[in-house]
Amino acid sequence: MKATWLGMAAAAALFVSGHASAAADEAAMTALSQKSACMSCHGLDKKIVGPAYKDVAAKYKGDKGAAAKLAAKVKAGGKGVWGEIPMPPNAAVKDEDIKALVNWILTRKY
Ligand code: HEC
Repeated sequence: MKATWLGMAAAAALFVSGHASAAADEAAMTALSQKSACMSCHGLDKKIVGPAYKDVAAKYKGDKGAAAKLAAKVKAGGKGVWGEIPMPPNAAVKDEDIKALVNWILTRKY
């Protein structure tokens, strides 16, 4: 129940992002990222096992195909872009959640 609510809150925040405050988006997306277990390996500003979200945003700045490419990578897992430590597949995370997370990651300030 709680997990569903968080997912809906995040989706709602995305849909109304033109009206909702940036802080509300940030809170909802951080919650979705925690719920999806991304935060055990990724920090907003610092590398943990995987790269910091802000470093990912910097790397793909101006790359129009990045969102689709990264969503596929998060789903299937992979290695070799940031080092030899692989990201395991995140098969349990819903496709729309992965898309929302990747879009949010790509808009981070760096
Ligand atoms: C067990 C640790 C782990 C978890 C859990 C994890 N990641 Fe990763 N992630 C990594 C590692 C390690 C890399 C670097 C892979 C590479 O070098 O290609 C990475 C890379 C990435 C990248 C950049 C990929 C690229 O090719 O540049 C994105 C975006 C990303 N992760 C998002 C996520 C999201 C969103 C989640 C949650 C749904 C998540 N990760 C969960 C470890 C993890």
